[in-house]
Order: sequence, then structure tokens, then C-alpha cells
Amino acid sequence: MQQVEKTAMRSERREGVPRAVRSMAYENAATLGGKCHRMLFEHGTPSRRSPEASPKKEFKKEGRPMEHPRIPLEDLQAQVAACRRCPLCDGRTQTVFGVGNPEARVLIVGEAPGKNEDLQGEPFVGAAGKYLNELLAIAGLSREDVYIANVLKCRPPSNRDPRPEEIQACTPFLREQTRTINPEYIVTLGNFSTKFILKTDVGITRLHGTLQRAGRFKVFPIFHPAAALYDSKKREALENDFATLGELLRGEV
Ligand code: URA
Repeated sequence: MQQVEKTAMRSERREGVPRAVRSMAYENAATLGGKCHRMLFEHGTPSRRSPEASPKKEFKKEGRPMEHPRIPLEDLQAQVAACRRCPLCDGRTQTVFGVGNPEARVLIVGEAPGKNEDLQGEPFVGAAGKYLNELLAIAGLSREDVYIANVLKCRPPSNRDPRPEEIQACTPFLREQTRTINPEYIVTLGNFSTKFILKTDVGITRLHGTLQRAGRFKVFPIFHPAAALYDSKKREALENDFATLGELLRGEV
């Protein structure tokens, strides 16, 4: 998106004109929505019985696949804790499943645990996490209101980017978490979660602050808080986007 357009949108926001829903709102809904929802829920499913067992497909009389039951978060957490689907399991102190309100309207999806998260077993507890708490407050939210999870449940060595095979191995857990929590909004933080949830190659710089759709979920991509810690322009964008999120949740836009 052109800088001029973003700046204009920012000044519109200051004048109280709703921004997110107008700019690219649902722009990709038709093309991305159905497809990304399908893909989000298509690859390997963690089992209710054991992590490695393959799921049984059940069929309704008319021949349409029935939705399989939602897996309780405690069961999913136990499966994640035992997971050895990719080599990241060898380097972890512990898995980082996710925390928060299991009935949240908003699911926040980050990238992967860092050092502090790996040590404490909770997402976003380091510097980016402290900033995330401030950002949530801008939206009128606290950590207790939302559920926070990551694309990967184990820390990549030296905090390197997640690899495609790790994302493929791990995301069935995120998919099931999402089904169980059944949020109204998924807030994707940064490129990895945005690209995974929306199944798009469009980057976060273009998508942030715009309302998208993935099947039944509203998706609101925002820059990753860590990317903004030392970049004042991104900080401004993040804070604007969290303010917009608050407006969306309150039905003001
Ligand atoms: N960054 C993330 O994406 N997730 C965390 O849990 C911590 C930092």
C-alpha cells in the first residue's frame, strides 16, 4: 500500500472515520476466505485418542462429512506436550501451548516461542509480551479476555524463522485450538501467522489493519509487537491497529 494512502487513512482515523472496514475490508473474502478456511482445517488432525492415530471421517446420511467433535484444550495440550513430530522437540525446555480465556472472542496468534517462553511455558512473556499487554489495553482488553497461542509450539533454535516443514507438522494443533475456542476474531501477529491463517503470500505490511475473513472467522492482521519494539513507525501502526480492533469489538466500525 502506498505511504500516501496509509497516511491519509491514519488522518481519517483521527477524524473518527472508520478505517479498517473500509480500506481492504473483506477485499479478499471471496478469493481467500473459503479457500483458506478449508486449508486451515484440511491438513493432519490431532486425534482425540492419541497424537499419532489418524482421524476417522464420519459421514452424514446425505454424504457430507460431519464436523468432528471439538477436542478439549486439556487433551490438545497433553498431545502437544508429547509431540515429537519435528526436530524442534529435541531443543525445547517445554512446549508452549497457549494461555487465556478458552471462550475468548479474540484469539491472538503469534509466531513461535522465544527463550523466555520456552523457559516459562507461556506465550508472550518476554519484552514483546510486555508490549503486547500495553497494546491489548489500547483495545480495551486484558490477557484474561483473549486467548494467546503461536503457530509453532516449540522454540526454533536462536529464534530463527519457522521452517515450512515445522509449520506443517505443528499447525494441526493450532487448527484444533481454533476450532475448540471458536473465536469471533483471529488477530494474526506478523507475517508467519498471517500467511498461515489467510493462506496468502500478501505480506503483513500490506494487510495490517484490514479486516479479512477465513471461513467463519474474522481475521485482523497486525504487525508483530517484536518488530515494533525499535521501530517507531511500526509502533504507531500497531497502536492504531489495536485501537481499531477495540472499535471493531465494540461495534463502532
Ligand atoms: N513471539 C511470538 O511470536 N510468540 C511468543 O510467544 C513470543 C514472542
